[in-house]
Amino acid sequence: MPDNPPLKALPKIPCHVAVIMDGNGRWAKARGLPRIAGHRAGTENLRRVITACVEFGIKYLTIYAFSTENWGRPQEEVSGLMNIIEEVIERELSELHKQGVRLLHLGHLDGLSPNLREKVIKAVALTKNNDRLVLSIAFNYGGRDEIACAIRRMIDEGIKAEDVNETLISKYMFTDGVPDPDLIIRTSGEMRTSNFLIWQAAYSEWYTPQTLWPDFGREELYKAIEEYGKRDRRFGKISSEDYSNNQKPC
Ligand code: IPE
Ligand code: IPE
Ligand code: MG
Repeated sequence: MPDNPPLKALPKIPCHVAVIMDGNGRWAKARGLPRIAGHRAGTENLRRVITACVEFGIKYLTIYAFSTENWGRPQEEVSGLMNIIEEVIERELSELHKQGVRLLHLGHLDGLSPNLREKVIKAVALTKNNDRLVLSIAFNYGGRDEIACAIRRMIDEGIKAEDVNETLISKYMFTDGVPDPDLIIRTSGEMRTSNFLIWQAAYSEWYTPQTLWPDFGREELYKAIEEYGKRDRRFGKISSEDYSNNQKPC
């Protein structure tokens, strides 16, 4: 059997998929391995998911890799995660560049080691003209921190109160230029935002499979998109079908 057997064409592809890659620790625990082995398995899986996004025609993928709250984990795990992200950039960058992936970073660079900071800046610069898939990595990212940071910048730049509106606020977010996510996937069955894209997710569809992140591959992504295709996104309005039903005489 080929690695990637052909799948039936999907009728509706979300433009932007965001993923809370959760469950690495539980994946490792279930195998009697140290948590860091779960994080490594998680990065292996990331490659599969990126390739599948390109295959399915998804234009924007955002992944939550390290939250502002994750600094509170034991020092050993934090430094392990920092090393992994550095290794991943080093190992994957040229292949991602070849695949036409543009890399963006969401979050703060300060707080990261000078080496890692430099690698992130270089990766973003190298891939800036690619347009097959925009891959945003939320790393040292928190949604509340992003909003606080946006307010600080608006005040610093002397924005007048009467000019503050939703469009302007969006421009001050780390995600400026990236459309709001259509679909947010959180693996491992947890059902909370954990501070991810809390401004941008106002009308995103959620999908929360039990599958742990290292096991969430191409077929699972396909199922998520299939499920997304069945959702009726009303954005607070009513569907056109319900509207015409309402007009029918009783
Ligand atoms: C997600 O996996 C990865 C990061 C938060 C960096 P976890 O490490 O949260 O895995 P669980 O939730 O403990 O299984
Ligand atoms: C969210 O997962 C952060 C990332 C996946 C990077 P966590 O595992 O840190 O979230 P909580 O603690 O379960 O809410
Ligand atoms: Mg977790």
